[in-house]
Amino acid sequence: MEQTQLSRGQFLRQLGLNSAALMAFYCMGTGLTACSGSGNDDPTPTTNGTGGTGGTGGTTSTAVKGTTSGSSIDFTIDLTHADYSKLKTSGEFGYVSGIIVINTNGSYVALSKVCTHEGSTIAYRSASNDLKCPNHGSEFNLDGSVKLSPATQSLTVYKTEIQNSGNTLRVSA
Ligand code: FES
Repeated sequence: MEQTQLSRGQFLRQLGLNSAALMAFYCMGTGLTACSGSGNDDPTPTTNGTGGTGGTGGTTSTAVKGTTSGSSIDFTIDLTHADYSKLKTSGEFGYVSGIIVINTNGSYVALSKVCTHEGSTIAYRSASNDLKCPNHGSEFNLDGSVKLSPATQSLTVYKTEIQNSGNTLRVSA
């Protein structure tokens, strides 16, 4: 009798260990997507080869004027400024605060740079003309829609307007 209970205890302990091992394996296999608090440790954008200003400039750049965050986003980027002059070239992109600005075939697109899965910074891929998150591989179309999961929610898209003979870009909510 005692021996049976002991065996059950041993069995349960063994099962517990096996579950933990399985869990660890599962987390590794899914790229940490299912493990809370451990999958969002890489906010660094990947430029993925073809060009990209890859985060040059930023909120402290004198090239940017206006409101770059919050619900009333409305700012201009001086495209003649060294921080953002690359944006005049098709296929290039840059970041302003929480927004990624892209020159795609001469047109400008601006979207939230924050992946809707777990918040990593996405990057533009000119070869496929889309956006990719380096963390778990979500992909987005330039209209903000999800192209590839694990993200399920679209990115916020902002309005863009070329001004001053192409030397200024206005981005607004
Ligand atoms: S943070 Fe998980 S795919 Fe972007």
